[in-house]
Amino acid sequence: MRRLGTRHLLSVSDLDREDVETVLEVARQMKARFLAGERVIPVLEGKTLGLVFEKPSTRTRISFEVAMHQLGGVAFTYSRDELQLGRGEAIKDTAAVMGRYLDGVMIRTGDHSALEEFARYCDVPVINGLSDLEHPCQALTDVFTVVEKLGEGPHTVVFVGDGNNVCSSLALACATLGWRFVHAVPEGYECPEEVWREAERRADRYGGSVEVVRDPEEAVKDADVVYTDVWVSMGDEDEKEERLKAFKPYQVNEELMSKAPDHAIVMHCMPIQRGYELTDEVADSERSVIYDQAENRLHVQKAILALLLG
Ligand code: CP
Ligand code: NVA
Repeated sequence: MRRLGTRHLLSVSDLDREDVETVLEVARQMKARFLAGERVIPVLEGKTLGLVFEKPSTRTRISFEVAMHQLGGVAFTYSRDELQLGRGEAIKDTAAVMGRYLDGVMIRTGDHSALEEFARYCDVPVINGLSDLEHPCQALTDVFTVVEKLGEGPHTVVFVGDGNNVCSSLALACATLGWRFVHAVPEGYECPEEVWREAERRADRYGGSVEVVRDPEEAVKDADVVYTDVWVSMGDEDEKEERLKAFKPYQVNEELMSKAPDHAIVMHCMPIQRGYELTDEVADSERSVIYDQAENRLHVQKAILALLLG
């Protein structure tokens, strides 16, 4: 199996195009074998993964735990506050020690620079399970799901809403595959500058494009995929009122979807704030692939784990 050109997975930008294609191919095989009845593919037999959560999680936690089981290994989950980290132990010390016990560590944190610091001092692969800046495992699953539903592409992926962690990683993943990424966003809520610059560089290198538009109806008119995420991410609760106001015109509802091509699918990383960024009618419509997308987290993460820890 080809190895990835990175030891850690902190950002989609740790991967080049060949790396992303390798993850997608291994994930495709993992899923096909699982569906054919091969419930355990023991490429990580005897290996251990630590999961550290500073924020809640349903999909990421369960899919990583089950993924390790299905690879013949075992996962141990800790909330940050039950580790000495929560009482002020230095990140450097925690990282060095966890690296002595475990074969890999997945971290969900609100502070991307803390994740980078942890990875610097940890001798085993560190995986970003969501930070304030990125959600790379989600984005890899998302492009996997798009290929599964619509074929190889290139595709036009339209993200309607906040330039948050999910949007940033998805922009990078689409650009790395040479796809077209359109971000419909109100002024002031775009992706962080350095992420967008990297997405532009990748789009140039790999033959895709990334663009920002203000009008969601204009944005979706050539969409193959209409993607949205919450308007108030974990950690943004203080800005709730102003965000709900700013994003109101950016709701993915039946009216907006009537402006998209008939074949366009609807995606959301979940959890959904139903009735805000996505209406029930659209979330529960035939266009929506949200549950398949969530299911694919399992198989894509098995690929990531096999490639990084194997
Ligand atoms: N999409 C996602 O990461 O979901 P959780 O917050 O439930 O892990
Ligand atoms: N943008 C959301 C994603 C949750 C999976 C958040 O950070 O809360």
